[in-house]
Amino acid sequence: DASDIEKGTYAHYMLKEMDEQPAVIRNIIQHYQNENGEIELTEGVRELVSEADRIYIVACGTSYNAGLVGKDILERIAGIPTEVHVSSEFGYNMPLLSERPLFVFLSQSGETADSRAVLVEVKKRGYKALTMTNVPGSTLSREANETMLLHAGPEIAVASTKAYTAQIAVLAILAYDIARATGKELPFDLMPELARVATIMDSIMAQKELFEDLAERYLKTTSNTFFIGRGLDASVCLEGALKVKEISYIQAEGYPGGELKHGSIALIEGGTPVIALISQPKTNLNIRGNVKEVVARGANACIISMQGVEHENDDFILPHVEPLLAPLINVLPVQLMAYYAALARGCDVDKPRNLAKSVTVE
Ligand code: G6P
Repeated sequence: DASDIEKGTYAHYMLKEMDEQPAVIRNIIQHYQNENGEIELTEGVRELVSEADRIYIVACGTSYNAGLVGKDILERIAGIPTEVHVSSEFGYNMPLLSERPLFVFLSQSGETADSRAVLVEVKKRGYKALTMTNVPGSTLSREANETMLLHAGPEIAVASTKAYTAQIAVLAILAYDIARATGKELPFDLMPELARVATIMDSIMAQKELFEDLAERYLKTTSNTFFIGRGLDASVCLEGALKVKEISYIQAEGYPGGELKHGSIALIEGGTPVIALISQPKTNLNIRGNVKEVVARGANACIISMQGVEHENDDFILPHVEPLLAPLINVLPVQLMAYYAALARGCDVDKPRNLAKSVTVE
């Protein structure tokens, strides 16, 4: 059928979509920069953000996890206080709002009912909204004041991959534009660094078999697993755990390394796989300490690190990127490991049980 043609030579949409991530990043660079290589957003978007004293990111699932990374980037680069909220909670338990809030709806599909319910409510209260979505003309796009598109191309697999990296890249572009407008000092040049990220993504995707091996070794036969990291890595751990849960049905938790000892470490037994993401220089020693703690209790630790914080025996060492953009890179190994774990366990990768690509009921 038609969908088989679109999939081309790929066994699954998820694999195809993971592979498309470097091209998506390049596409985003093209769409958001002018001929002088400067970031260019519409006047409408610029006006919306210039009026805001605080950003409220509202999203579900993988988009929520991308929002957590976006919060750090917005606060550190643009200096604007940013909160991230799960749509279904926000709708019914609205937090205290600032004087001039801007609502940013993150949604691959632009159709998620929980997010739409929040949009309807905030508009009723007279607030402004910006939607970041992959689907032009989607409900959340039409009903918000402004839209920034993800330019990721159709995402078919239920487990979201390229929309996650696209959302982080577009949030970073927004953060840089706000920083420029408010005269903030910029720690590095975003667009060239995103171009480098795309090249590095290509190199990771060219080594897929390594992650197939890691999935076999750590995830194939386990019934539970932990992803641990600190700071931005902890946010990527939430996404890693979500991917593993969604498609391989392994009970998985993403945890900030330092918080393990306050409860979850009780679950570590001989052979429990613990996947550690280590990209942030500032917390390298602490997270390595956490790895030692779990290994001392019998855990089977898999370390994915990055040049600059690497140890020689790490399972995989990613090429160096600016630590603030590390989530764009270190999410790839966990996406791939989730994919290969699901395959090895005989799961239906593109259509996992009980899940829908777009949830249009509250
Ligand atoms: C569903 C999908 C998830 C997705 C979430 C939010 O639960 O299975 O993969 O992350 O919806 O979707 P959205 O389209 O709003 O990003």
